[in-house]
Amino acid sequence: MNVKIAPSILSIDFARMAEGVAEVKGAGCDMLHVDVMDGHFVPNISIGTPIVSSLRKITDMKLDTHLMVNEPRKMVKWFRDAGSDIVTFHIEAENEPEKTISHIRDLGMKVGLTLNPLTPFSKVQPFIEKVDMILIMSVNPGFAGQKFIRDVIPKVRMARDFVDQNKLPVDIEIDGGITPETAPLAVRAGANILVAGSSVFGQGKISENIQKLLNAIYGVSGSGL
Ligand code: DX5
Ligand code: ZN
Repeated sequence: MNVKIAPSILSIDFARMAEGVAEVKGAGCDMLHVDVMDGHFVPNISIGTPIVSSLRKITDMKLDTHLMVNEPRKMVKWFRDAGSDIVTFHIEAENEPEKTISHIRDLGMKVGLTLNPLTPFSKVQPFIEKVDMILIMSVNPGFAGQKFIRDVIPKVRMARDFVDQNKLPVDIEIDGGITPETAPLAVRAGANILVAGSSVFGQGKISENIQKLLNAIYGVSGSGL
């Protein structure tokens, strides 16, 4: 399985955003995870369209935009216009997910559906054939630097099995608490895109941090898992 790291810019030093983005690209990443919070769906606010526009100017990396907001449908076009490539919204925040999925597609972007740690896979399963990605939260959304919730591992396995059994071209992304220790657990369960904030942009050199994550992941693939 081809596994990739999507660095989460929530943890970047925004005063040095261009250097940080260049460094993750130089380390081989082709996707940046952008966390959007509205202070309602989650108890925090974060990145809006101006940062996405700035990112679009400085990189050709795919901008994977994770909307942690109520009423996501009304914001989708703002992010498309700012330069997002993929928009993911929470199943818990949307009463009419199919409408939002179609709206994102009609705007020419890829679409992902995400679920909180306590939300069962059955909530997103009816829509899985219509999306490009399922994003499984391994922390409660709202903050970087939280501890990985191991109880989500069976859900990752369930999503991977469903996608493989039905031969669906759907990525399984995991988000929250990914480190060299937890990355192998996520990959072994079937995740193929790993979001990482603190473990990439926290302590140490960015490129070395990515290499440590990749080494942990390749160790898993190398062992045949
Ligand atoms: C949490 C965000 C995550 C966060 C991950 O609400 O959705 O993307 O940035 O940060 P780490 O990797 O530090 O858990
Ligand atoms: Zn996220």
